[in-house]
Amino acid sequence: MGRIIGGLGSPHAPAVGAAVDRHDEDSAYWKPLFDGYKPMRAWLERERPDVCILFSNDHFTSFFLDVIPTFALGVAGTHEIADEGWGRRALPPVPGDTELGWHLARSLVEEGFDPAVCHRMPLDHGCLAPLSALFPWEPAWPVRVIPILVNVLHFPIPTPARCFELGRAVGRAVASYEDDVKVVVLGTGGLSHQLTGERFGFINPHWDAEFLDRLERDPESLAALGHRDYIERGGSESVEVILWLAMRGTLAKRVRCVHRNYYHATLTGYGQVVFENVG
Ligand code: DHB
Ligand code: FE
Repeated sequence: MGRIIGGLGSPHAPAVGAAVDRHDEDSAYWKPLFDGYKPMRAWLERERPDVCILFSNDHFTSFFLDVIPTFALGVAGTHEIADEGWGRRALPPVPGDTELGWHLARSLVEEGFDPAVCHRMPLDHGCLAPLSALFPWEPAWPVRVIPILVNVLHFPIPTPARCFELGRAVGRAVASYEDDVKVVVLGTGGLSHQLTGERFGFINPHWDAEFLDRLERDPESLAALGHRDYIERGGSESVEVILWLAMRGTLAKRVRCVHRNYYHATLTGYGQVVFENVG
């Protein structure tokens, strides 16, 4: 049987991947974030998940204005490293899990979710920034990754409630998988940030703290909010925290937060969590 052993939350800003590539983890600017990854890496090394289901979004890399899937499920056996315009990062391709990926596809469609099933979906910073901060990749990535990309860029985007329900459906799909696999679920992005317009640079640490509290204890109340609520509280791009709601939806009603970190960086409120299932 598939088993979800926990849920992680991580930023996915491209600057995080660039800091990894420059070995800049201990600089004054980056240390508050990368110190927050240390317990997460230790947790992953201890728990050794077989598969990581990764909720992120494409940033006009694999999809553009001609085709924007609301939900895109990557079932490839290997995921390519995308070139986002300045060359590919020097990372090996990321292994996928076609069998579990197709099981998710079948199960989600049966439950009324209709993801675009993607055989080729190169991964951009939305996936690679958090993966490269959380996992070693030499000589090879230690985990198979199933990306589920949610459109959070181009309205209409799915509601917070829909993303939470998607997470629940993914949780049930993993539980109905017949092979014994240990699965970790990773929600990425956020927290507060606004990269455009009059409120460029807006960050709201008080809301970010409240969001993380409620994500742990009362995610239904977050699922009940609308996009405007998130945008007002955390800035326009913070609406991508619906990816964290999808992660939370895969977990049990009660979770234990075994790690939490917050770093108010220049443009983004970076949050990190590890949740374990309680029941
Ligand atoms: C940036 C991009 C992102 O996708 C994000 O979530 C945060 C920051 C950026 O370009 O700085
Ligand atoms: Fe993003």
